[in-house]
Amino acid sequence: MNTDVLNATPRTVSMPTDTGWWRDAVIYQVYVRSFADGSGDGTGDLAGVRDRLGYLKELGVDAIWFTPWYPSPLADGGYDVQDYRDIDPRFGTLAEAEQLIEEALALGIRTIIDIVPNHISDQHEWFQQALAAGPGSPERARFWFHPGRGENGDEMPTDWVSSFQGSTWTRTTNPDGTPGEWYLHLFTREQPDLNWNHPDVRREHEDILRFWFDRGVAGVRIDSAAMPVKDAALPSLPKGTAAPGDHPHIDRDELHDIYRDWRAVADEYEGERVLVGEVWLDDAERFARYLRSDEMHTAFNFDFMTQPWNAAAMRASITRTLAEHEPIGAPATWVLSNHDITRPVTRYGRADSGFAFLRKRFGTPTDIARGTQRARAAALLVAALPGSLYIYQGDELGLPEVELPREVIQDPMHFRSEGVDPGRDGCRVPLPWSGTSAPYGFGGTAWLPQPADWSTYTVEAQRSDPTSMLNLYRQAIALRRSQADFATGELEWLELGADIIAFHRGDNLISITNLSATPVPLPAHHEVLLSSAPLGGVLPPDSTVWLALRESPERSDGAQQ
Ligand code: GLC
Repeated sequence: MNTDVLNATPRTVSMPTDTGWWRDAVIYQVYVRSFADGSGDGTGDLAGVRDRLGYLKELGVDAIWFTPWYPSPLADGGYDVQDYRDIDPRFGTLAEAEQLIEEALALGIRTIIDIVPNHISDQHEWFQQALAAGPGSPERARFWFHPGRGENGDEMPTDWVSSFQGSTWTRTTNPDGTPGEWYLHLFTREQPDLNWNHPDVRREHEDILRFWFDRGVAGVRIDSAAMPVKDAALPSLPKGTAAPGDHPHIDRDELHDIYRDWRAVADEYEGERVLVGEVWLDDAERFARYLRSDEMHTAFNFDFMTQPWNAAAMRASITRTLAEHEPIGAPATWVLSNHDITRPVTRYGRADSGFAFLRKRFGTPTDIARGTQRARAAALLVAALPGSLYIYQGDELGLPEVELPREVIQDPMHFRSEGVDPGRDGCRVPLPWSGTSAPYGFGGTAWLPQPADWSTYTVEAQRSDPTSMLNLYRQAIALRRSQADFATGELEWLELGADIIAFHRGDNLISITNLSATPVPLPAHHEVLLSSAPLGGVLPPDSTVWLALRESPERSDGAQQ
């Protein structure tokens, strides 16, 4: 634990006070390890981010979400947190994080950090104390330690299945070398689950929120937000689908009390500090419960991201998403990918263009040119929808998923699948900034190898190419800011054919995405605002166009282009 910080008073950070900023914000996800390396050791760091804040300002984003930047043994890419009140020395220092938050704010960019409530690192002092203190101790009560089943206690306490495949319990060894209790971990064995029935766990997380809000953090992304509460009776998994709220470790009703308490903490602060949940749930009604007005502000909408390149499936997902958010007055979020998901350029270039964790395989044939065309179209489609927009670093460069050689893969999902699943490192390869060979201006030799053919993907190369993915993203974000209807205009569907996704935003804007195999004529319009492909009077297959019906009114909320 970073003890220096306990006595230190954070600097007073003055926060912007515009209300509802998160409702249509563009939020850029920085995976710190792979964004930019200021120290030259091959690992991305805060110095690298500070150097590139100008890039993010130019891109036009409203906020940065940092994946965990805390000290961590990196058993799960930083989602195994050793100390929630400090910065991993490989990334920098707490003082640098404070500077970064302020420098970003000075450019009008807010900071969102990642909070991981379900589990901590097995190297966290609480877990180390629990192991040392032994069975029945108060230190163990903060976790899920339990004797095994069977005569010798050598069977796992439950049949619960890990999101990472494989077992959810690991047996400890007593000081005398005999086998001891088991502890629960819904992810890897290095990520013991916390017991959220314990008051220390609740208090500690509320303190952590305050610690970062005091430092000017504008929000938290809540990791695995539907998982922290468990049924203390440790029942078996239900046969078939559990009744709502009745699964032993997913989406339990008691979670809502926790997020209400967190919301109360966030609301103590000026400048609207937001809670963003990573909530993977199929049940729309259960999902919406997390967004009630005294709980989270928003939650990631993964439904759209998992859909294949198919108009009916994508339109149905948009309709479902808007319908589930509407009654609670929460904005939808639009997410094409993140650090866990196959890059869109690759996904949309495959025969199976949807996404599911358990379907990933090495050697899947991919048409990158087609995938890129579709990813461009998808970027404009989601940017035209009502709600907030998340961009995962590198998607604005159109980076493909990298198929890494097995010997460099670090992701536990790969190992826990016994090498069948390539894991998630393929979307975590460090960004190419400039130059014609690796490390492409990233810094030192990147911790995951960058492909030899990435010179055309660099920021430098794309900056000067008006047709690049980077310029498409920049223009799209600038238009979202400057056109009032993108912020407030109602979405109204426009019927242009079964394979076309078309809608109005307000009175003035139309977005049309052509998922058919033939070009589509453009409806009457005043001006083409932006298109993902050259038009020549028609909208080609796999592309999106934004049309203005008349001279555009500027936004009245002061947002600048
Ligand atoms: C979330 C994160 C993922 C991590 C997991 C366990 O799903 O996005 O990267 O492995 O939680 O913390």
